[in-house]
Amino acid sequence: MNPLLLVVGARPNFMKMAPLYDELKSRNLPVLLLHTGQHYDDNMSKLFFDELGMPEPDFYLGVGSASHAEQTARIMLDFEKVCIEKKPSMVIVAGDVNSTIACALVAAKLWIPVAHVEAGLRSFDRTMPEEINRILTDRISDLLFTPSPDADQNLIAEGMEPEKIKLVGNIMIDTLLLHSQKADRRDIHRELQIPKENYALITLHRPSNVDIKDIFSGIIEALESIAEDTTVVFPAHPRTRKKIDEFNLASRIKRIPNFILTEPLGYLDFLALMKEARVVLTDSGGLQEETTILGVPCITIRENTERPITVEQGTNTVVGNKKENILKTWKDIAKNGGKKGKIPELWDGNTAKRIGDVIEQYFV
Ligand code: UD1
Repeated sequence: MNPLLLVVGARPNFMKMAPLYDELKSRNLPVLLLHTGQHYDDNMSKLFFDELGMPEPDFYLGVGSASHAEQTARIMLDFEKVCIEKKPSMVIVAGDVNSTIACALVAAKLWIPVAHVEAGLRSFDRTMPEEINRILTDRISDLLFTPSPDADQNLIAEGMEPEKIKLVGNIMIDTLLLHSQKADRRDIHRELQIPKENYALITLHRPSNVDIKDIFSGIIEALESIAEDTTVVFPAHPRTRKKIDEFNLASRIKRIPNFILTEPLGYLDFLALMKEARVVLTDSGGLQEETTILGVPCITIRENTERPITVEQGTNTVVGNKKENILKTWKDIAKNGGKKGKIPELWDGNTAKRIGDVIEQYFV
């Protein structure tokens, strides 16, 4: 059998592919791992490989940052060469980043079957580049591994063949459960002098929140108010850090008491912080899911979510990016402790196994 080619590119891909890589290896299937290099800083990439126990990738394309068209095109040019040389029996992509659609598109045109992990999620907001990536990747995939029933419904509504859709659960939860105890042994609270169980944890990186000065400043004002009640911990994504400098927000942030601005953290330190946070405020997709599993209230600073199950069943509240709405929800959480939520079906740590079963069956 020719190899199964697993693709990663950006930070949120690593925790989705690590358990699948291990699962396929444990079945003695031939597996190759390719990293596009969309994310390349050590703390956005290598640290995750080390902590999640992933091997050096077999291929590293080193594409780096660029405009959407340029980044996607560079990945496609290099990935096509690898596909022609290695003739993979399947290309497996995850999530919704530019590396996902770039590699899926190359494979589909070479008649290589494509499997998409985390298929079917929709925000119905095409101003998000990720939404375009999701729709297009699903359309050309041969196996659609979905995390929740809403994703199946979206795919059916778009006319996708039901035989391709496999409800397998949320693979990121496999990683979270596997590493949870290791995270408990981290010393990050002491290192950053964070009072245990009395802090808000923030991540922000969407262009819609950080690229426009008035919007980003409004969110910082909301965080300033929250810092009056509880310590605020903000590991800033490189894009966000650049915008803090560009908009001259650094000195203002420095003046806020109880506000800890740090570099991006590794998987284990971040998980350790998430587990004990009073609240997480974020525009990430994955964090909406991880907080649901951990039972930690999440305030999503976006107008919509492609992960509605975290709102319907979990601990998530989607509030948009207006200061008043963020603060209103924070005050509710500070007073009442926030939504308790429940764990969605199949978010049980066995998703990689279910995907492994389907992939093996595919080649019988
Ligand atoms: C990408 C994904 C987004 C995901 C996010 C997680 C797309 C379209 N977007 O957004 O869905 O939520 O990753 O982090 O694929 N940079 C560095 N070092 C790095 C990586 C990036 O400094 O290792 C800086 C560069 O200035 C770059 C900017 O961050 O231009 C944005 O990086 P990019 O990969 O284009 O998008 P993200 O915002 O990270």
